[in-house]
Amino acid sequence: MTEAKPPTISGVPDQKTKTCDQVGFYRRQIEGPNLHHRALLDTLVLTEKGACFQLLEPDTQTRLLLTVSPYKNGAVRILIDELQPIKERFRVPDVVTGERQCEQLRVERQDEDSVTLTWSSGCHLVRVWHFPFSLEILCGEEEVVTFNSKDKLWFETLQDPSRQTSCSSELEEDQAGSLWKETFGQFVDIKANGPTSIGADLSLHGFSHAYGLPEHADSLKLRDTREGEPYRLFNLDVFAYELYSRFGLYGSVPLLVAHKPDRTLGVFWLNASETFVKIHYTTDHQDGQTPPVKMRRIQPQTDVHWLSESGVIDCMVLLGPSPQQLFSQYAQMTGYQALPPLFSLGYHQCRWNYEDEADVRAVDAGFEHHNIPYDMIWLDIEHTDGKRYFTWDPVRFPDPAGLQHHLQQKNRKLVVISDPHIKVDPDWSLYCEARDGGHFVKDREGQIYEGSCWSGDSCYLDFSSPATRAWYARCFALDKYKGSTPSLFVWNDMNEPSVFSGPEQTMPKDAVHSGGWEHRELHNLYGFQQHMATVDGLISRSGGSERPFVLSRSFFAGSQRFGAIWTGDNVASWEYLNISIPMLLSLSVAGIMFCGADVGGFVQDPQPELLVRWYQAASLQPFFRGHSANVTKRREPWLFGEEVTAAIRTAIQQRYCLLHYWYTLFHQAHTSGLPPLRPLWVEFPKEASNFAVDNQYMIGGALLACPITEPGVQEVNVLFPGSGEDEIWYDVHSAKAYKGGRTLSLPVTLDTVPVFQRGGSVVCRSAGCGSCTAELQQLPLCLTVALNSCGVAEGELYLDDGHSFSYRDTKAFCLRRFNMLSGRLLCRRASEEGVFECDSVIQSVTVMGVKSKPAAVIVCVSDTTDVSAEFQYTEDCSIVTVTNLNLRVLMDWEIEIV
Ligand code: GLC
Repeated sequence: MTEAKPPTISGVPDQKTKTCDQVGFYRRQIEGPNLHHRALLDTLVLTEKGACFQLLEPDTQTRLLLTVSPYKNGAVRILIDELQPIKERFRVPDVVTGERQCEQLRVERQDEDSVTLTWSSGCHLVRVWHFPFSLEILCGEEEVVTFNSKDKLWFETLQDPSRQTSCSSELEEDQAGSLWKETFGQFVDIKANGPTSIGADLSLHGFSHAYGLPEHADSLKLRDTREGEPYRLFNLDVFAYELYSRFGLYGSVPLLVAHKPDRTLGVFWLNASETFVKIHYTTDHQDGQTPPVKMRRIQPQTDVHWLSESGVIDCMVLLGPSPQQLFSQYAQMTGYQALPPLFSLGYHQCRWNYEDEADVRAVDAGFEHHNIPYDMIWLDIEHTDGKRYFTWDPVRFPDPAGLQHHLQQKNRKLVVISDPHIKVDPDWSLYCEARDGGHFVKDREGQIYEGSCWSGDSCYLDFSSPATRAWYARCFALDKYKGSTPSLFVWNDMNEPSVFSGPEQTMPKDAVHSGGWEHRELHNLYGFQQHMATVDGLISRSGGSERPFVLSRSFFAGSQRFGAIWTGDNVASWEYLNISIPMLLSLSVAGIMFCGADVGGFVQDPQPELLVRWYQAASLQPFFRGHSANVTKRREPWLFGEEVTAAIRTAIQQRYCLLHYWYTLFHQAHTSGLPPLRPLWVEFPKEASNFAVDNQYMIGGALLACPITEPGVQEVNVLFPGSGEDEIWYDVHSAKAYKGGRTLSLPVTLDTVPVFQRGGSVVCRSAGCGSCTAELQQLPLCLTVALNSCGVAEGELYLDDGHSFSYRDTKAFCLRRFNMLSGRLLCRRASEEGVFECDSVIQSVTVMGVKSKPAAVIVCVSDTTDVSAEFQYTEDCSIVTVTNLNLRVLMDWEIEIV
């Protein structure tokens, strides 16, 4: 039936992938001498784009051009290129969005040792030291970052190929083999431009916690890399990846976020070639030496060393200082999270493969029969005619449009896979069109590159070319994609790209893309650009009116603009469930917010308990999809007995009840850059005891989630953040209140997942869950108000049609704010913008933390007279529940608890 997965793959890194020592440019930089650059201060030129200096490396007489640009949003860009390259070096396209405005720089001080530049009324300073060259960024008196503090600046200038026989230094002689040609097993990489690597270090002063740099199967807090491998950013297809590893996985975001109680800082290294990152935490003055005055800086310190195979040094320092500001600075740079269609936040049912139309209909009916809501069902590669994407297997799927109509009648959608490899088949029109249109990547000899993947011998679309992207986008047009309807959505897989016959199971670095660029320059962008083209295709097929949904396995910085990503081929084990939490938190911190892991584990068969715990955990994560490999047993939620079905049903139903909250969080992500899934330090930035926690997290600002990721658990330790005096946490199931600032062991059963609402917040749920999100939108709403120690709470609710761009184009949305203060809950407009007509009503309001029984509850709607409302008071848990309200969300109203 299906070709087996290529022969890797045992769960340990195998000979197919490299260690850092097997990578030429890494060795050259690590073993090479520190090059002592000088900043030629008298070459300073100030323009509206910032300050430019020449840098000189005296031994090799290399001259570089440094440009420092402070942006108005609190980011400083440090760009270094050759002063006069023999040809242009690669600069990453499509990632940084829009035009940024630069601050006006002024020279504050200049002598022969340094130049100090200032902006923002003197609050920020950049000081450039002549020798050894370094660049300090100061905020007020505080020295925040030093670039090149360890003198690791490295820049291999482009050379004339005729130079390749002569070696100018001993090191080059030693490594001459890796300069123009590098071998790995049977693979030979011929480097058209010779050695082109770059590197630089930054010291982050006062920081001892760093995060981000996905994708790795490792802890949220990045590890010190003095032991073991550096973090590798090189997109690869790694089946059943090793855990607690810094090995590169499917996607890369070169954003490192450092945090300390009074500042969050980002370093964004915009480079799409293979990259390593070394991290070194220093806790105190090491060596017992007193540093010279110039070096006297706050300890601790985090030193970050970036090394990339090619391109230019393009390094953006995001100065925060708050986590919120940092996320907003990063979003202004690389784009905001796309607002997902509401249905894509529901539950997705996937499997490799649903066999045929009857199978899909039966699974769909199974959800109804078992009263489990879901929104989307997925088809993997076997739905195609011989792995030719955009086609349908004529026997298994003879009437795909009929199938989609059947699902759409119930407001459910179908998702199909579309990979970037195209079967070599001269009888297939899509292959011929792509070949004749010049849409395939070439090999180093200029022939169309062929590698093997699911479809056997295949060519790979060159998504780096705008013309290819436009052609590919057009392939999704309803008239072109036969059997597709507007309720069909897309999954881009194998887009690292995965090449079974290639080095490290990917494309050779000397393959050639449009414009003559080698694959090595843009490897990490390949999946990003496919995702981009697919999203364009789905938007265009609706004439620009409908929001797309596209899941991609590979990604880069900025992929958040396109849609969802997932963590690839995980395994059905407790360890993989456990690691999914830090993996998703790392992605969220790096802007990839609509993320999830295959529920149940893709490889192997989960025990029922694991499956239940996985559903519970994933129901509290952004992208929620059950998926399993072709050789696993079927695992639809109802196949394991009533107890398991009931527990899974509860988890999915609770997810649906909470979807208005998730949707509101995605609106916030879309407009402010704040991720829905947040490490505790984002909400409690001053509490160092939370900085390394990665088994609990916040969903938005209101909910604390503690998924259970171990078997046989009867008690779980929950860390309640916040100060014990002020912070209150309410169990969302029992309403029991807990004080912050402590860790408690709480009982759990197979049915329970500890989730707590923070005192001071208001969360909106729906009164029921419906069978899919379309039904959910018709249901009344319930508010849960969790009072803090001052009796105050606030929250927001965002509503729109859930699927179109009219929220953007005609401002058809509404954003409401709920404020509780002195016993009065107010519902008001939260935004001046927005004209959305809807009948949604608030049916009930529950207020937690009401110390004594109220005498009455009075409701006042706009100009009407006050009326008393029905309520119950539960003394044990200090709750007031006001029922039968039917208050329109769009109206202004108040509820007074007297
Ligand atoms: C890859 C994907 C997996 C998919 C399979 C077949 O392994 O990661 O999700 O099911 O390919 O398409």
